[in-house]
Amino acid sequence: MAGTSEERHKQASETRGGDFARFFGTWVRHPLKMGAVAPSSPAYCRTMVESATTHLDGPVLELGPGLGVVTRSLIEKGVAPERITSIEYDPEFARELQRRFPRVDVICGDGLDLSKTLADRPGLKYAAVLFAIPILNMPQKQRQALFTRYFDRLLPGGNVTQLSYLWTPPVKPVEGLFEVSHSPIVWDNIPPARVWIYERRTAPSGHA
Ligand SMILES: C[S@@+](CC[C@H](N)C(=O)[O-])C[C@H]1O[C@@H](n2cnc3c(N)ncnc32)[C@H](O)[C@@H]1O
Repeated sequence: MAGTSEERHKQASETRGGDFARFFGTWVRHPLKMGAVAPSSPAYCRTMVESATTHLDGPVLELGPGLGVVTRSLIEKGVAPERITSIEYDPEFARELQRRFPRVDVICGDGLDLSKTLADRPGLKYAAVLFAIPILNMPQKQRQALFTRYFDRLLPGGNVTQLSYLWTPPVKPVEGLFEVSHSPIVWDNIPPARVWIYERRTAPSGHA
């Protein structure tokens, strides 16, 4: 990127201000689809990315990227943009995301229905799924079924990380399949949030 570091800093804060206004405007029109009044904070995005199993060899799936704050954080952490597929429902956000990250595979579609949205790559498994789609209007059993399907898409050792403002796990563990833990609360996020981490249950010692 051209310009002095001062210019770059100014450009970044102008983008943050513009994104905030755009995000908030979309939230006013579609609060349930957006689920948040503002993009996640840089500290929150770093926590999300550090919690995700991107060190595994394989593609990375981002669901509900918005205007790309977590996408940017993934790339800053060293994940090659070509490894990232980002599925965003809002066509304007998806267009803007593709403009900002031309090497990321941006799909405008439904991240809750991967059998349809990723129908052209049925057997492909991911190193990590980073999830930020609002699902609180969904019954618990349906949330568990959804995350069970995400586990079918994960490589061995891969995890699902979820953005949430709740203080209890938005998706309860599924017996014999996955367990849930969380990051510390990131207080500078609006509102404060934590990352919920879903990992395959490890077999007790002595068992295969
Ligand atoms: C809470 S925002 C998170 C945005 C960004 N990841 C962040 O952390 O700031 C949720 C995003 O999910 C998108 N979304 C909502 N439903 C979706 C769906 N079914 N599939 C894909 N994206 C969806 C919304 O358009 C919005 O961009």
